[in-house]
Amino acid sequence: MRLREQPLIDAAEIERRVSELAQQISSDYTGREILLVAVLKGSILFTADLMRRLTTPVVLEFLRARSYQDTESTGHVECTLFPEHALKDQHVLLVEDILDTGRTASVIIEKIRQAQPASVALCTLLDKPSRRVVPVEADYVGFTIEDRFVVGYGLDYSERGRELPSLFVLDNDEQN
Ligand code: IMP
Ligand code: MG
Repeated sequence: MRLREQPLIDAAEIERRVSELAQQISSDYTGREILLVAVLKGSILFTADLMRRLTTPVVLEFLRARSYQDTESTGHVECTLFPEHALKDQHVLLVEDILDTGRTASVIIEKIRQAQPASVALCTLLDKPSRRVVPVEADYVGFTIEDRFVVGYGLDYSERGRELPSLFVLDNDEQN
């Protein structure tokens, strides 16, 4: 895996933005408990940093989604871990690493709605709106980025690079 030398977004910038998001979320959810649903694996660092800065009480659950890309590029998404019984009447805040085509988030949100929560909102560290295929909008966005493949701070390239504290762009010649 070859990454650009200079981070796209460095650790200090991530920390500042996560603090801002936490402040905004805490204020929006004042007096309510948040059921944070972290989407594995990519959102774990973001979720950990975000939740320790929230001033509202939280309950944490995990969800795992797998996407299959077929030849017509109609991705099929399946949840392999789903907190079925935890969601009813709760204020669910879904925490994603990145909103790309929007396929994963749209399937997850629909599945969460079926479990009858009191509310559902989406918080994503990164948003690549130019890649959207399914119309999904996040309620909270850390950074809006161009169509680049990014690695670090939980995001992987073939399971590598999640441990990096900053976000890096993958060098193009390795992407395909
Ligand atoms: P979707 O296309 O919005 O369904 O995004 C599905 C998943 O693709 C995300 O949750 C990420 O795991 C992965 N993904 C999309 N773009 C990137 C990227 O730039 N770096 C790392 N993973 C990505
Ligand atoms: Mg991934």
